[in-house]
Amino acid sequence: MKKLIIGNWKLNPVTLKEAIVLASKINSKSRHTAVICPPTLFISQIKYPKLGAQDCFWMAKGPFTGQVSATSLKDLKVTYCIVGHSERRETGDSDQNINLKVKALLDNKITPVLCIGHGTVAGEDELDVIDVLKQQLKVGLSGIDSAKVVVAYEPVWAIGKGKPATPEHVEKIAMFVKNKFGAGKVLYGGSVNSQNAREFLTEPNIDGLLVGGASLLAEDFNKIINTKV
Ligand code: PGA
Repeated sequence: MKKLIIGNWKLNPVTLKEAIVLASKINSKSRHTAVICPPTLFISQIKYPKLGAQDCFWMAKGPFTGQVSATSLKDLKVTYCIVGHSERRETGDSDQNINLKVKALLDNKITPVLCIGHGTVAGEDELDVIDVLKQQLKVGLSGIDSAKVVVAYEPVWAIGKGKPATPEHVEKIAMFVKNKFGAGKVLYGGSVNSQNAREFLTEPNIDGLLVGGASLLAEDFNKIINTKV
């Protein structure tokens, strides 16, 4: 079964030259559907079959200094866009704003990858976590055909720490997100690498992965996008 694997490069690498070299090392044909999300500034210069962005603004144009619209991303042939990443929520992104971004992306036929997640420590009370996820999904998906949205579950404590959540926990959350909110796909993100990817990809309700650090290591990322399941 083909899964969806998205590489989130975040603010890496620093130069266009390095970004082009990195992209050229990623297999353009792979067992699973692979998407790379370089820094926005480099997107137009990167050649890869499926490109994503890391965030967007909901208005198409106008007096909005520093923003990048979903409309412009579409013009760059972007087909996926992450919204609501915890690193953006930390700088003030609200569920209401994220909802506007999801709508703008769908209007532009770009698949939104809505990140949800909570908790600063592993083992956070599961009911508390579910309460926060419910709120993020209720507002984030309000007025939206959620079947068209990819939801990425990323427990905040698992991001960039080398300590992923357990596949059993993620499978449970993925079922909840699909059954209660009708999300089209649910991905997992947080310390995924080529050693642990398979554990998640073999779970029936986990439809793929959102990979940060390991997506900057071409050899590792190639292994992840070609994982046998
Ligand atoms: P990580 O990041 O794979 O480096 O933990 C995941 C993410 O932030 O999307």
